Amino acid sequence: MEPQIAPSILSADFYDPRPQIESVRAAGAEILHVDIMDGLFVPNISVGVPVVKSLSRKCGMTLDVHLMVSDPGRYIDAFAEAGADWLTVHLEVGDTADLLRRIRSTGRKAGLAINPGTPVSGLEPYIPMCDIVLIMTVQPGFGGQSFGLESETRIAEARALADWLNPDCVLSVDGGINAGTIGGAYRAGARLFAAGTAVFDAPDPGAAVRDLLKLCSPN
Ligand code: DX5
Ligand code: ZN
Repeated sequence: MEPQIAPSILSADFYDPRPQIESVRAAGAEILHVDIMDGLFVPNISVGVPVVKSLSRKCGMTLDVHLMVSDPGRYIDAFAEAGADWLTVHLEVGDTADLLRRIRSTGRKAGLAINPGTPVSGLEPYIPMCDIVLIMTVQPGFGGQSFGLESETRIAEARALADWLNPDCVLSVDGGINAGTIGGAYRAGARLFAAGTAVFDAPDPGAAVRDLLKLCSPN
């Protein structure tokens, strides 16, 4: 797949996100990354079902909903009904096969995320059931952190597993994506880049999306 940026709304201006969303859409971004945090799985709280509902009605982008919550099974149906297009759960919360099946049964695409401390090999039994694999390159919970040192190796490992078990699986990365890190992540095999600070803290979010994409090159 061609590389794509999924701007992460966590870094948007919640008082008036519309100009920022329109700017990234006009720059060709088709996927909006929405971080859901419950204060338990991660030490932070973000937004929930009502925000996804408003976005899905108005923003005209595919909603990539990243569930950083300890009991995602309680919320799959609610987020699917609210208009999430993709639902990603974390391997660390357990019940993975059941959660992925339940997401797919709602007609949504199923994603599986892993934290930096979780071995990539843990994905192996589940990759055939995933549409998206999300490699966290920071400890989840906050925007604005630095891309982890081991991340490129982990992305390459995940890509190799996906090529073997499910070549259509989209390989996504999340955390610390900016002009200095995106090229290496792309060359390691990532194709979808969730990016918060680098896009929405920029004076022109659309230009930031275009500039990041230009750095996705083989060398
Ligand atoms: C972090 C979130 C990310 C966050 C990325 O836990 O999952 O999606 O928005 O933010 P940046 O791009 O600033 O690292
Ligand atoms: Zn995220």
